Amino acid sequence: MTTSPVAARTRVAPRSDVEAKPIQVGLLGIGTVGSGTFKVLQRNQQEIRRRAGRGIEISAVADLDVARARSIVGDRVRVVDAARQVIADPAIDIVVELIGGYGIARTLVMEAIAAGKHVVTANKALLAVHGNEIFAAAHAQGVMVGFEAAVAGGIPIIKALREGLSANRIEWVAGIINGTTNFILSEMRDKGLDFGVVLKEAQRLGYAEADPTFDIDGIDAAHKATIMCAIAFGVPMQFDKAHVEGITTLRATDIRYAEQLGYRIKLLGITRRSAEGIELRVHPTLVPSRRLIANVEGAMNAVVVQGDAVGTTLYYGKGAGSEPTASAVVADLVDITRLHTADPDHRVPHLAFQPDALADTPILPVEQVVTSFYLRLRVADQTGVLSRITTILAEHDISIDAVLQRESAEGERQTDLIILTHDTREGRMNQALARMQALPTVLGPIVRIRKEDLN
Ligand code: HSE
Repeated sequence: MTTSPVAARTRVAPRSDVEAKPIQVGLLGIGTVGSGTFKVLQRNQQEIRRRAGRGIEISAVADLDVARARSIVGDRVRVVDAARQVIADPAIDIVVELIGGYGIARTLVMEAIAAGKHVVTANKALLAVHGNEIFAAAHAQGVMVGFEAAVAGGIPIIKALREGLSANRIEWVAGIINGTTNFILSEMRDKGLDFGVVLKEAQRLGYAEADPTFDIDGIDAAHKATIMCAIAFGVPMQFDKAHVEGITTLRATDIRYAEQLGYRIKLLGITRRSAEGIELRVHPTLVPSRRLIANVEGAMNAVVVQGDAVGTTLYYGKGAGSEPTASAVVADLVDITRLHTADPDHRVPHLAFQPDALADTPILPVEQVVTSFYLRLRVADQTGVLSRITTILAEHDISIDAVLQRESAEGERQTDLIILTHDTREGRMNQALARMQALPTVLGPIVRIRKEDLN
């Protein structure tokens, strides 16, 4: 490493011996992300030391599979099978929780905080559900909890929302924040296949977990949206108030019709400030094909943030994987290394806003959310059907933006009617849908997908 004359002139006084000693990290769990974290810290140690001002060293690892852990970290790192031995080790400054779930991970994180350790976690489920309790404990103890890896893997979206955009009144955040479902939706569109077929293929290729429930039901995305909601608007974590729909009932037919109308269907996590409160929702969404986020394909993630000063910003990258997620974990380790001697009041607040300045703005029930809609109705192909449907929409003050009717195949007495609406309140749409569904000429369940222009 060469030192420039400028750097040599401006260098501050040497740090004390204590500060020069590498900060000591204990890993709880060394699976995909843990091994990536170990590798990145090893490979980039010089660069990381130059950034952090001192080295960052993993000196203890707890994993139930001690032999496998040892094969990753070698003989110079202490490997144990009991996480509590790492937490109790007075030499450890930062505990990295990579176990996952809300069970033992919650207990261990709370114990680490109580022991005065800083914590870094990739655990979105834990933070979305128990974050308020965890951050309150950390605040009381004067320790930091880093969670950049919990949302969109390697994309530094927490840093962007919490620091880079801190001048702004954030208006909305919308993201593709689950790679598994984005991969499935991309395959459904490319190949014209239905959900079940693509899911099986994704599992065979290892893109989807053996138990993909959290991903395909939208729960994983809702955990991440909950975290973004809290730091975008300065409100507590409220996962229980999120409206969550997954992609399991989505049909290739709707992806095709949406395409014909100039839209792609994406599973979006959306959080938006409105006059009445805050929206927090995850559901399949039609997005205009010309938007950059509509063209995010495969397992990639992307988040769009709209701020009043900056306008629209877009963040794109890998939302999962060993080294992309490790990139976020190590960034938190660097932040903590830089700041751990600072007065806790001078650190970045966990939820971006000072803990005593969090707002109690309500999360709105989905019936109060205002969006536009895509509707697909299987209808009898006979006189007056379209006019009865448009009358019902008009009676509920729902304005139609576009209509597409597929030409009936020869001899077929029924057809698909596709309607795009302008913005309306969801509760109003529900009433109209109930009346349309009751028409004898509507022959199957009406498909309803929300649409967002994101402009
Ligand atoms: N299972 C997640 C995804 C990655 O598919 O994006 C971890 O949150």
